[in-house]
Amino acid sequence: MDAILVSDLTKVYPGGFVGVSGVSFRVEEGEIYCLIGPNGSGKTTTLRIVSTVLKPTSGRVEICGVDALKNPLEARRLISYLPEEAGGYEDLTGREFIEFFVRLRLKGSDAVEAIEEAYKISGLGDALKRKVKTYSKGMRRLLALSAVLSVEPRVAILDEPTAGLDVERSLFIRDTIKGYNKSRGVSMLLSSHNMLEVEYLCDRVGIIYKGRIVAEGGVKELKEEYGARNLEEVFVRAAGGSIGFEQGASG
Ligand SMILES: Nc1ncnc2c1ncn2[C@@H]1O[C@H](COP(=O)(O)OP(=O)(O)O)[C@@H](O)[C@H]1O
Ligand SMILES: [Mg+2]
Repeated sequence: MDAILVSDLTKVYPGGFVGVSGVSFRVEEGEIYCLIGPNGSGKTTTLRIVSTVLKPTSGRVEICGVDALKNPLEARRLISYLPEEAGGYEDLTGREFIEFFVRLRLKGSDAVEAIEEAYKISGLGDALKRKVKTYSKGMRRLLALSAVLSVEPRVAILDEPTAGLDVERSLFIRDTIKGYNKSRGVSMLLSSHNMLEVEYLCDRVGIIYKGRIVAEGGVKELKEEYGARNLEEVFVRAAGGSIGFEQGASG
């Protein structure tokens, strides 16, 4: 069974803006799959639909065999989602945020264990006693990611987990993600616009551009197929030279 099965997903936003158009891919159990593409290409739209927080115009999504559009509550029990902007908890301390997040999902000793685990994963130490509003962007990202991973979901959905972070923190987050995937067998769907960092992290990638997947496969196979030295070159070739950045798009 696939961890995630997405087929023919289309999202047309009010006003006729196309978020994604006919997107299909699967994430195998235990795999790290990454959607990569420039800003405005449809990554967040896809991840929000898979996480059941946004309804598609058409298409299908299954999480471990559960129809996520028909049974979103059941699907939500299997996933843990890091949104593009995980904010809005300014007056909680880091610890309080973790506790709040974990206790939405787990109870009793499971919750206590996950909370301890999240403290560790975050690497934030004493800063966990401070309010989130005093955190840098990187610290907020680590805090949210640690909470999302600590509950040990079947499937983690992480929207640009390292966006806007310095090199050191990006490396830490990448190692954390990879470690969790290996040690707990958590299947992962990630997005990134940083094509070079993805090479290290992912088993397979889908290159998304203007709402469509233009190439897909293992990093090594894609490089061979396109005669490219890295995924940036694969992207340029797969997107067919018509590359321009969307205006007014975020993240
Ligand atoms: N709420 C929205 N209303 C209208 N258009 C949107 C909305 N959210 C995203 N879009 C558009 O959908 C496209 C894909 O955006 P998004 O999924 O955020 O891309 P990415 O995450 O790859 O940057 C962009 O053209 C964006 O402007
Ligand atoms: Mg985005």
